[in-house]
Amino acid sequence: MPKHLISTNDLSINDINEILDEAISYKNAIPNNTLENKLITTIFFENSTRTLSSFEIAVKRLGGKVVRLDISKSSTLKGETIADTAANINAMNTDAIIIRHQSAGAGNYLAKYVTCPIINGGDGAHAHPTQALLDTLTMKLHFKNLEGKKIAIVGDIVNSRVATSGIDIFSRLGMEVILVAPPHFQSISNKLRQTTNIKEIIDEVDVIMSLRTQTERHNNQIYGSLKDYASRYCITKDLIGNRNIIILHPGPVHRNIDIDDEMLKDSRCKVLSQVSNGVYIRMAILNRLINQ
Ligand code: CP
Repeated sequence: MPKHLISTNDLSINDINEILDEAISYKNAIPNNTLENKLITTIFFENSTRTLSSFEIAVKRLGGKVVRLDISKSSTLKGETIADTAANINAMNTDAIIIRHQSAGAGNYLAKYVTCPIINGGDGAHAHPTQALLDTLTMKLHFKNLEGKKIAIVGDIVNSRVATSGIDIFSRLGMEVILVAPPHFQSISNKLRQTTNIKEIIDEVDVIMSLRTQTERHNNQIYGSLKDYASRYCITKDLIGNRNIIILHPGPVHRNIDIDDEMLKDSRCKVLSQVSNGVYIRMAILNRLINQ
């Protein structure tokens, strides 16, 4: 295992498979206290429901303790740099720092200023490695073997760290990834199959991963309206019909824009399973990085 987890590129196929296996063992049995006497600090400069609480629950499930730095009360507002913030937390002998930041590369940059592991909880549009791992676990638990399965990633791909990290792991595990989006949301930097028309691929995919339109990363509005977007890209029960497709979404879901209410209630929609699996994945990562 690497010292830090900044991007999925840090992980070999062997690391990925070991993390998945350990996560499954936590799902199937009461975990032991492998983080007893360990203290982990969370520093989230961007809002989060799932990643922050999931990491903190994962630490506690393994018997560890968490300190959450409240950014609104930290010295960031007095002009302290994130490097100094991390160096000061590191000087208090924390066993790991989990960071989310709006700037791509923040975790990589901080790794130079600390001696403890840095875990990236999402940096700008760059990477969200633990999300990609929990998405992979959710599919693996459903299909057992991912080799040859087809996944369509639908939505604001160009601004999505979830898509970037997912594309890397899914492709390395032998899945075919198809990108479905209007031209302004497409990624221009990869060679994957792309289409603007979801109906063109609906009969051949095993998985659809819907993404939120990330308005916080748009410098100006580059689409007509979310209603226009939804008319072509919302994953509705009518669109899916009786097909044997599972639906993923990293959250937060824009209801009836990304996925409609009826599809969210359908057993093929795995959004809350992804959230449950996120705790097991983060337990495995924390244990492996801190106790290696
Ligand atoms: N999937 C995800 O990163 O959700 P949060 O922004 O709520 O952490």
